[in-house]
Amino acid sequence: MYQEIKQLRALTGQPFGVNLFMPHPPLADLSAVEVYRHQLAGEAAWYETPLGDPDAGGDDGYEAKVAILLEDPVPVVSFTFGCPGREVLDAFAAAGTFTVVTVTSAQEARDAQWAGAHAVCAQGVEAGGHRSTHRDDPQGGLTGTGLLTLVAEVRESVQLPVVAAGGLMRGSQIAAVLAAGAQAAQLGTAFLACPESGAHRLHKQALTNPLFVTTALTRAFSGRPARGLVNRFVREHGPYAPAAYPQVHQLTGGLRKAAARAGDAQGMALWAGQGHRMARELPAGELVELLVAEMDAACAAVSGRSTR
Ligand SMILES: Cc1cc2nc3c(=O)[nH]c(=O)nc-3n(C[C@H](O)[C@H](O)[C@H](O)COP(=O)(O)O)c2cc1C
Repeated sequence: MYQEIKQLRALTGQPFGVNLFMPHPPLADLSAVEVYRHQLAGEAAWYETPLGDPDAGGDDGYEAKVAILLEDPVPVVSFTFGCPGREVLDAFAAAGTFTVVTVTSAQEARDAQWAGAHAVCAQGVEAGGHRSTHRDDPQGGLTGTGLLTLVAEVRESVQLPVVAAGGLMRGSQIAAVLAAGAQAAQLGTAFLACPESGAHRLHKQALTNPLFVTTALTRAFSGRPARGLVNRFVREHGPYAPAAYPQVHQLTGGLRKAAARAGDAQGMALWAGQGHRMARELPAGELVELLVAEMDAACAAVSGRSTR
């Protein structure tokens, strides 16, 4: 992380953010991971690669990353999968760092405000990638609140600025979330197809390939609910994959890499939001300009319309 920050600083004087994954409480019962390991044996044989060690994941170096970021502050630090305690958020504030906590409910937004976050990112259920729920509900977790409802709820629950994320692919949708009370919008899937994106070629192609008709929230690859294109792996293993992050993530790491090497998109984690079919293959800068133009056009169209 430190090396990447150094490289980034050499490339730009513009503000940037670092995104931290909050560590998970240890799993009390690992038997479900063992069962899943047996269920994935056929995949390991098919891709001719061993399953990973479920215990090799650790906590993503969370404490060490916080220590580095406090010693050598960056403009923005955002947190996913949970909310740090007040002492951590206060320390970042004292270091001059703006903090953002991703939330999926009004209650999580209230918790973030209480803990001292500067802003919240409201992540709707449409969003690609992992759901940022602060606690993973092993019995549920595969549903959530849509973005427009969530933004309105969060706006009425906290005084913090709100960044809206989930399913936003066009400038008109950004205008809609700003009208609903968000101060900013965050887009993920819209940028996946850009040449600057590090996504695998097959992942980029799959976004608009008519073979992939829908997305789903699944635990199949990582053990935590994440939204991706529905492929064979999701269909076959999603229904019984256990709530065990990062153990399942570790377990399937080799499989995902082997599937990519084999050019088999049906075994890869194709993270994508609900709007994936609208992805445009443009350089990132051009895409931003297009989104802004679309947003302005949408605002002009609405303000020119009579409300009576
Ligand atoms: C491929 C991919 C990777 C992502 N990785 C992260 C991540 O590391 N940390 C994070 O907070 N959110 C991550 N997200 C979620 C985004 O922050 C955001 O919530 C989401 O992309 C918004 O929905 P959209 O993809 O429909 O635009 C990721 C999303 C995608 C599609």
